[in-house]
Amino acid sequence: MEKVSYFQRAIENGITRPSLVQATDSKEYVLKARNEEGTSGKTLLNELIGYRLGKLLDIPIPNLKLLRLEKEFIENNDYYRDIGAKPGICIGSEYLKGNAKVNPVILDKASNINEIPGIILFDQVIMNNDRAENDGNLFFERKTKRIIAIDHSHVFTSDIWDIGQINRLNSTIPSIVKNIDGPVYKYCSPFINGNSPFHYCKTKYDSITLERLDEVFSNIPSEWNILEEEIIGLKEFVWGQIQQIDEILEEIKPHFSYWKGSV
Ligand SMILES: Nc1ncnc2c1ncn2[C@@H]1O[C@H](COP(=O)(O)OP(=O)(O)OP(=O)(O)O)[C@@H](O)[C@H]1O
Ligand SMILES: [Mg+2]
Repeated sequence: MEKVSYFQRAIENGITRPSLVQATDSKEYVLKARNEEGTSGKTLLNELIGYRLGKLLDIPIPNLKLLRLEKEFIENNDYYRDIGAKPGICIGSEYLKGNAKVNPVILDKASNINEIPGIILFDQVIMNNDRAENDGNLFFERKTKRIIAIDHSHVFTSDIWDIGQINRLNSTIPSIVKNIDGPVYKYCSPFINGNSPFHYCKTKYDSITLERLDEVFSNIPSEWNILEEEIIGLKEFVWGQIQQIDEILEEIKPHFSYWKGSV
């Protein structure tokens, strides 16, 4: 596994206390490490599952690599010592140049507005309620002008779930996010237009079998301390949501006024 080899700077606006680093593969990453300010193994699991599932569904998402942050590196770094970073396996999101604050003017410049419905449906499937109201979780990549979905730390409604909460989530399938009328989704609304705007991305869910979902939920670093029953519960939730894509679309349709015709 590649290691964190150089610390560039702390990223100020992140609740998970991310940092910009270079790794032994010479690439730059936005690093999320477990720390004493609330970033846990569950936060990192959320990111990893969001990434793996997003890749299967062709969601525009930065490449992600698991990176090792060594104890000695933390001891020699003021920022990591301050946040109580824990050594071990971290999430590295490949650094893109661009802008993380999305607004209608930026969306108008985007080259991939056709991929926006897919991001919104994906948010429902994994219950990511940190996009509709947070204007910092759609990224505009300068070079390609693409809108990229970042930050899956708060999927499954949060990163403080336990088995009780997962069971409750499972009893509410099909679920959609509570902030479906949030401002960022409102900015995206004009791009969810015409007949069957979700048709192209709905078909992607047909290719997800239980075996592929097993792969998404396998090889989780044991040091993140995720319980087997939690993995099983989350997998059940995602599978249940995927089986009910049409019902999810029916639920979100009234919130997107440019969408005509059926789901
Ligand atoms: N792959 C990336 N390339 C470039 N910048 C990134 C990337 N991933 C994250 N960032 C930057 O780091 C910031 C924080 O990242 P992210 O939103 O994932 O963290 P967070 O701590 O969960 O934030 P939030 O405050 O939204 O909860 C983003 O707003 C963005 O500016
Ligand atoms: Mg964020």
